[in-house]
This record gives sequence, C-alpha cells and structure tokens, in this order.
Amino acid sequence: MTPDPTPETTALQHRVIRSFVKRTGRTTSGQHKALTELGPRFLLPYQESTLDFVAAYADSTRATGQNSIKPQPLILEIGFGMGEATAHIAALLPETNFLCCEVHDPGVGALLKRIGEQDLHNIRICAHDAVEVIDHMLPEQCLDGIHIFFPDPWHKARHNKRRLIQSPLIAKLAPRLKVGGYIHCATDWQEYAEQILQVLTEEPLLKNTALAAHPELQGYAPKPYYRPLTKFENRGLKLGHGVWDLVFERV
Ligand SMILES: C[S@@+](CC[C@H](N)C(=O)[O-])C[C@H]1O[C@@H](n2cnc3c(N)ncnc32)[C@H](O)[C@@H]1O
Repeated sequence: MTPDPTPETTALQHRVIRSFVKRTGRTTSGQHKALTELGPRFLLPYQESTLDFVAAYADSTRATGQNSIKPQPLILEIGFGMGEATAHIAALLPETNFLCCEVHDPGVGALLKRIGEQDLHNIRICAHDAVEVIDHMLPEQCLDGIHIFFPDPWHKARHNKRRLIQSPLIAKLAPRLKVGGYIHCATDWQEYAEQILQVLTEEPLLKNTALAAHPELQGYAPKPYYRPLTKFENRGLKLGHGVWDLVFERV
C-alpha cells in the first residue's frame, strides 16, 4: 500500500515551476579535471534523507584543528554560478562550513577548480535543485546563514513565477535557520529587490536587521563586508546599475 503523502511530498509533486532551466553549457578542460579529481571529495550526492553534517565536513574540521565537540557554523548558498563570491567568502571565513547548491555543471566545475587553486576545505557542493535539498536534507534549525546572491531575475512578467525568492521558499528556509541566524540576498534588479523585501518582511520568523541600524536605506542593508564585488557586479555598477542587499535575522 502506498503511504499517505506528507505535505512536503505533495508540494513537491505539484511543484512543476523551477527557478532554473538546465543549460547544456560546455565544461572547460580545467573544470572537467576539477570535477574528476576533486568531485569525489567535495561533491555531496543529493539524497532523500537528512544530511549527516559531521561526516560531510569531517575533513574541514580536521583542517582547522577543531574537534567535533564544537560544530562549525554552517551557511547554505543557493545558486553560486561560477563560484567567485563563494570561494572568496569561504577563504575569508575558514572556520565556517558552506553547503553550496548549483545546477549548472560548468559552474560546479568552476567552483571545484577554485577549491583546488585556493586549497579550501570548508565547501561542499550539492549539484542539485536547492529546493529539493532544503526539503529533504536539511532539518529545522541547522543553518547559521543563507546566501542568495543575484538570483535569476526572470525579467519578463510571464516568467516572474520562476523567481526563486517567493513566500513558499522563505517559509521553508526560515525554520531551518537557527535563532539568530541570517538570510542575506542581493540583487541588481530593482523590482526583484522590492519583491524580496516584501516576501522577507512578511515572514513572521524573520526580522529586518537594517531597519533600525540604517533607516535611511528603507529596508535595504549596506553590503556586508564578506560579500565581494564580483566582475559581473562591477560591470553593472560602472554602467550605473544599482545593487540591493537584504539581511534578515531569524527570531
Ligand atoms: C544569475 S546566477 C547568479 C550566480 C552567482 N550567485 C553570482 O552572484 O554570480 C543564478 C544561479 O542560480 C542557479 N539556480 C537557480 N535556481 C536554482 C536552484 N533551485 N537550485 C540551485 N541553483 C539554482 C542558476 O543555475 C544560476 O547559476
């Protein structure tokens, strides 16, 4: 007999609109080499059960001389692209672990290549739809932070429904943050920034950290020190485009 579906499996069966279209981008020889040589150590296979965080980051714990009694903070990143910001932040915060989801194979190869070049120990990659990773692999209150940088804006009105940051996703993410943990989003698309601000503000488990500290920014936050200006962002800024950071805390 088939067991009754849980609310999460029902939601999954009905969720046909994804926030990405799987592109068949070519991997370079360097990315391919990184996938072959470093993939076995740094790629976490997607699974339909809770992730064993201690086992997943055992190497990282040893590399920083920590013992398993004091767990290292864990940040989830959704959609790291080519991994430029990811590698920068992981190098800056060696005692924090990063669980990074991306569905674009060349991007996964590119981040693995950076991991090798920069000798990083604290990143694990799940090359899978982050929404399913959240649903199945992450229990409540397991995350210290969430990074979502420049999610696809899906500009055209008929594609807006594909945007990653919408209330149902935030309702899944907020309980997975520890109390005091944060979610940090950044976008260069003003109308998406307004949508993100609204969605995060409406989530009862989240509080906008910028409102009291920077009332002049009308809910947006100054760029946190750890987020680098990537090549893509610099190009946009030179063209006069804006960038909006949003940082909310789990209450
Ligand atoms: C516009 S890119 C931004 C990349 C990077 N964060 C940056 O700042 O350059 C958005 C990325 O999110 C990825 N993405 C979108 N939805 C995703 C999902 N549900 N799970 C994992 N990755 C996703 C896409 O494949 C794409 O590479």
